[in-house]
Amino acid sequence: MTIALSLPNPEKLAWWVDHLGTLLPDHEVKPASEITAKDDVTYAVVWQPPSGLLAGYPNLKATISIGAGIDHIAADPGYPAAIPVVKTIGPDMTQRMCEYVALHVLNLHRQLPDLQTAQSAGDWRQIVTPTAPNRKVGVLGLGHLGKSAALTLHSLGFDVAGWSRSGKAPDGIEGFQAAKLDMFLARNDILVCLLPLTSETKGMLCTKTFAKMPTGASLINAARGAHLVEDDLIAALETGQISRATLDVFNTEPLPKGHPFWNHPKVLITPHIASLIDPVSGGEVIAANIRMLEAGETPDALTHVGRGY
Ligand code: NDP
Ligand code: OXD
Repeated sequence: MTIALSLPNPEKLAWWVDHLGTLLPDHEVKPASEITAKDDVTYAVVWQPPSGLLAGYPNLKATISIGAGIDHIAADPGYPAAIPVVKTIGPDMTQRMCEYVALHVLNLHRQLPDLQTAQSAGDWRQIVTPTAPNRKVGVLGLGHLGKSAALTLHSLGFDVAGWSRSGKAPDGIEGFQAAKLDMFLARNDILVCLLPLTSETKGMLCTKTFAKMPTGASLINAARGAHLVEDDLIAALETGQISRATLDVFNTEPLPKGHPFWNHPKVLITPHIASLIDPVSGGEVIAANIRMLEAGETPDALTHVGRGY
């Protein structure tokens, strides 16, 4: 019983092999590149696997995403659709995302970038900002992460709404269903994207969407780079339709040198760290899911690529 591990970053790969090997002593955990007996592979634990890798394991029972998203697996057109995919979702990941969203909503809300600009100019500039109950924040996607992030913002006092297909929202959060997108967009001073990347959500942060938001609203994208049409954001920042953007994810990662976002005065970049999974706590979740699968049980986070997310 071999578990194949595939991640683009070699340092992280070694760390994962080590931890998962300890957590799953009944399995042989190996980097995919070192596996010659492909028939032995029953599980693959992956982030951005090379195209064709997973279809090459004839006895694969499930693919485990080292992440909450499965778009990096679905991106392989040859992925065997019958093989289930298990997302990795755990308390540490949710906590990290809530911290990230709270940090960056507060940063925009209290206009910290303007205070930093004032500091560089030696300008004692006292900016009076509204209080949180007077700031409307909208969260696109109310899944595991979106719901928790919305509740965190609500606990800080913000006026929070969420958008999802069903429109179901937890107590204290105003829910908007898919068809009410325009109404949802029109209310938010700060928009946070935590949607899964699917054919329906790809490119939805675009000129048309920005035009429906209040002039001068801000954007936080912590979901996937392909949700955003980058040129449309640059144009919206130029006109002031969008006043600031905080971006954790990009169409090409790492963000290429010379990309206009790097030095844009209205863009704050973080390098896809909103909620990184580490092999210690993430490994526990993955090992528990593999043990469940081995026991014939179905982990909550099991899905199929054909289902969209
Ligand atoms: P979930 O799958 O739990 O969330 C899905 C949510 O999105 C649901 O509320 C769903 O609505 C809504 N949704 C899906 N499609 C549509 C649509 N077409 N229209 C309206 N609403 C839609 O995802 P998670 O919360 O676990 O994660 C969200 C994403 O965050 C991940 O897919 C990943 O891309 C990203 N991520 C980024 C990280 C980072 O470090 N930057 C870390 C972890 C995740 P409904 O409930 O009605 O079906
Ligand atoms: C994820 C991610 O999907 O890290 O978990 O982006």
